[in-house]
Amino acid sequence: MCGIVGAVAQRDVAEILVEGLRRLEYRGYDSAGVAVINQGELSRTRRLGKVQELSSALDAAPLAGGTGIAHTRWATHGEPSERNAHPHLSEGDIAVVHNGIIENHNKLREMLKGLGYVFSSDTDTEVICHLVHHELKAAGNLLAAVQATVKQLEGAYGTVVIDRRDSERMVVARSGSPLVIGFGLGENFVASDQLALLPVTRSFAFLEEGDVAEVTRREVNIFDVTGSPVKREIKESEVTHDAGDKGEYRHYMLKEIYEQPTAITHTLEGRIAGGKVLDSAFGENAAEFLKNIKHVQIIACGTSYHAGMAARYWLEDWAGVSCNVEIASEFRYRKSHLFPNSLLVTISQSGETADTLAAMRLAKEMGYKATLTICNSAGSSLVRESDMAYMMKAGAEIGVASTKAFTVQLVGLLMLTTAIGRYNGMSSEMEAAITQSLLSIPAKVEQALGLNEAIIELAEDFADKQHALFLGRGDQYPIAMEGALKLKEISYIHAEAYASGELKHGPLALIDADMPVIVVAPNNELLEKLKSNVEEVRARGGLMYVFADVDAEFESDDTMKVIQVPHCDEFMAPLIYTIPLQLLSYHVALIKGTDVDQPRNLAKSVTVE
Ligand code: F6R
Repeated sequence: MCGIVGAVAQRDVAEILVEGLRRLEYRGYDSAGVAVINQGELSRTRRLGKVQELSSALDAAPLAGGTGIAHTRWATHGEPSERNAHPHLSEGDIAVVHNGIIENHNKLREMLKGLGYVFSSDTDTEVICHLVHHELKAAGNLLAAVQATVKQLEGAYGTVVIDRRDSERMVVARSGSPLVIGFGLGENFVASDQLALLPVTRSFAFLEEGDVAEVTRREVNIFDVTGSPVKREIKESEVTHDAGDKGEYRHYMLKEIYEQPTAITHTLEGRIAGGKVLDSAFGENAAEFLKNIKHVQIIACGTSYHAGMAARYWLEDWAGVSCNVEIASEFRYRKSHLFPNSLLVTISQSGETADTLAAMRLAKEMGYKATLTICNSAGSSLVRESDMAYMMKAGAEIGVASTKAFTVQLVGLLMLTTAIGRYNGMSSEMEAAITQSLLSIPAKVEQALGLNEAIIELAEDFADKQHALFLGRGDQYPIAMEGALKLKEISYIHAEAYASGELKHGPLALIDADMPVIVVAPNNELLEKLKSNVEEVRARGGLMYVFADVDAEFESDDTMKVIQVPHCDEFMAPLIYTIPLQLLSYHVALIKGTDVDQPRNLAKSVTVE
């Protein structure tokens, strides 16, 4: 969360910085700011609200200068306001942007106040800039001052510091929050995500935990946690997506919903041959790790957690191994049991989710046999620190509500089910059936997208609703959970999901004519059970919206609207039923007039716990 961009160049950098912030706005959009150094003077502009506010302010009063830093904020300490917006300054000399949380900020604040520093914001970040200012007096140069400062910080930070008296240098430090250095010709950059810098460079080096780097126009010197000089590999970015381009779509979310057939085609490419999923889909030497696995522990947050929940049904049913799924923030703070030959699987679109990363590190300490991440972000912390990685190749996902990442995660997890199943008694016929199904998913998703018009009509019914209930059974229960999450996060309608067998254990009390009940009903072995649950709702006057297989024999009447979903096999059904639920939440949000791509209070990449 929070987007950071920095640049040292001969040309004026304010525009580059603001364009970078636009591309990072998914990380936070409470306020934005920029500071540049011009002829030894530090100038700063900050605005409450989105990057567009900052951009308009800079159009009216441009800032000149070749060294600068910029930030788009997702508030942690201190309300969203201009005075809490980054960059923060110390004595008009030092400017700092920061992503993360400084846990010992109160103690440091008191110490710095004692030294005479005056605080002008409620943020934890401001302690960093006064501390650098203070340390600089003894250290003599900015690099040493930042190195001395970070030794005193507890918590997580990705931070960039500039000093107006040393105008051709940025010092950056990373611990717990990602930072990438971008290499240009006679100019260099830094950002919290390579996406920000794609208009100016495609050469990147990712900082490792504890790294501090000094960046000038001609040089980048990186030092590890011990202060020793290190080299970090410079890689050419493979990201092809132009984050600034929504194409013909009104929102990134809609674009990303429609990109699903392509994203799934990409993720399948080169990974299936001869009716088998290739072990190499999970990285080099994956076969060595996968062949001994008897238990899988899945860790993730939010939408990615729902993907893991679905995979649990598959791994236990088809792959013949036991599987637990847990929310990362719970796993990392409790004592859990380690089963023999356990594989730890993290699922993360961003690869930087703080809780997921911490849980993975804990699992490594606990002695898991191997770690695998299913991740969409090359070079991210989870990819770099895991033994194996399934790279999702879904393309950048900009809309805060995850859509294509979810369905691609499901594809990756289906592949994992066969890869593990193969070593645990899955027949080659079964594997061939799953791979056959996988290959036909893109076309089926395309068909499911054809439901859009019907769903636009349906969405009208939700215009005056405050609550909604989603029901599913088996591996459709996580799909109901995902449907509820999508609806609540972008339309702000309170939505809950239940395994429909749970209805009579409490939630049935909620049913009345004002509570829409959304049911996912593929034609599977649980269909008859689900139908009984539907009758329980009908008998209590509830109004239902049933997404059903054409063969499931539901009929629309006064109490039920049936939306026929293209017929699909059991392997792909969770993916296919996800599509109409995504469309439903999108169209309801449009009617409600919310900010679809940047819903209130949320950010895409949750790099703080
Ligand atoms: C919801 C959503 C979030 C993320 C969660 C984990 O639409 O996007 O719930 O799924 O924050 O993020 P990643 O997958 O990046 O670890």
